[in-house]
Amino acid sequence: MTGVTGAFTETASIDGRIGPTAEATIGLKDDGLYRGDGAFEVIRLYAGRPFAIEDHIARLERSAAALRLEFDRMALRTEIEALLAEAGPIEGQMRLIVTRGGRRIAATEPIPHHEETIALASVTYQPTVVLNGVKSLSYGANMLATRLAKEAGAEEALLVRPDGIVLEPPTSSIFWVAGGNLRTTALAEGVLASITRDRLLRAVPGIEEGAWTLEDLKGASEAFLASTTRELQSVASIDGTPLAEAPGPRTREAQAAFAAARDAELEAG
Ligand SMILES: Cc1ncc(COP(=O)(O)O)c(C=O)c1O
Repeated sequence: MTGVTGAFTETASIDGRIGPTAEATIGLKDDGLYRGDGAFEVIRLYAGRPFAIEDHIARLERSAAALRLEFDRMALRTEIEALLAEAGPIEGQMRLIVTRGGRRIAATEPIPHHEETIALASVTYQPTVVLNGVKSLSYGANMLATRLAKEAGAEEALLVRPDGIVLEPPTSSIFWVAGGNLRTTALAEGVLASITRDRLLRAVPGIEEGAWTLEDLKGASEAFLASTTRELQSVASIDGTPLAEAPGPRTREAQAAFAAARDAELEAG
């Protein structure tokens, strides 16, 4: 939920060369930089143990396959192991990046700080379709959406399709309680197959997946965001309209269910 910023030296591996991130460099001529052509993942580290790493690597492989981007999977796995050994038992996260220029990057980072609740502003967003479900380096539109939401006086964006269907915030999934039911947008509408979302769907019975409008969400009694870095974060308001409860009882239940599932999974190794 609330990020704990670990005091550790951020460390990066580039094609197996490990050192402080502050000193890490890649060549300028890489279409990962020139055109945002590449794929990435962010994996949570709990006391140095990566959570759901197989799911993250599988999603990275799906993203790369969608981009027609080859990378050496075995080499990346070896490099991840070496980086984790170097990093030790940190509370943090690990970013993986594969670029069109052929670089394999793994880097440790502190977890960004997140408050208990967050204010959202809707931003109209048309999914690219060919990049739907792809965690690509082309996140400029997502980052801009957050800035537009901040200009509108909120803290984070809520991406809404031109036809009014709620998608997701730029780097998380959204769940809300309407008509007594816990809801989230279906993957088929063009949202990322979030791993936190997947764990919640398994841990909390009866969550509805579908296509709902911003009006439906604005009528919610409570809502929360879900992601690797946020875990579950309660939504305080949408477009300036406060939600009735933040965090509400269903949010607290979901937080407890997620924490139990996460701990059991980490325990099982
Ligand atoms: C667009 C988008 N949706 C949802 C998420 C949450 O995914 P996960 O739970 O796998 O971190 C992310 C993560 O960064 C994202 O970029």
